Amino acid sequence: MRRDPRFPDVCFPWRRSAVVLALLLAACGNGHPQAAAGPVPAPPPASPAVQKIYDGSCRTCHGNPASGAPQAGDVQAWAARVAQGREVVLGHVINGYKKMPPMGLCTQCSEDDFAALTAYMAGGPLK
Ligand code: HEC
Repeated sequence: MRRDPRFPDVCFPWRRSAVVLALLLAACGNGHPQAAAGPVPAPPPASPAVQKIYDGSCRTCHGNPASGAPQAGDVQAWAARVAQGREVVLGHVINGYKKMPPMGLCTQCSEDDFAALTAYMAGGPLK
């Protein structure tokens, strides 16, 4: 599994809160504390296949707070969305939803791909 060398495993014992994560990264980082309100750090990599699609299609928005999309790894931002249930959430991904483009710009992705991508970004499986 490919690992982001900037974020060694030791920096990810918890994924519960973006704030904890930001503080933790500051502690593990180069000595320059990050503001808790800054960009959400990328979650630990998913499987290489999922990671590849994420990087190619979803990251533009789900790794960019200015897009208004819930950020990958921001478990709190995803909680209410995941609570809608798998069918609703995947329906939004496939058909589009507000500023979320249909299929997240990954036209060759399957429903299972979208479920895996969403679980990756949300920090837990769809229900
Ligand atoms: C062009 C920007 C953009 C891209 C590319 C994009 N998204 Fe999104 N996505 C959004 C925005 C913005 C929202 C929030 C929509 C809202 O609720 O207002 C969103 C919301 C979502 C949601 C939550 C839907 C819900 O029911 O609340 C899921 C799941 C999602 N995106 C999955 C993906 C996946 C998977 C990909 C890549 C295959 C992807 N997105 C690519 C912008 C994008």
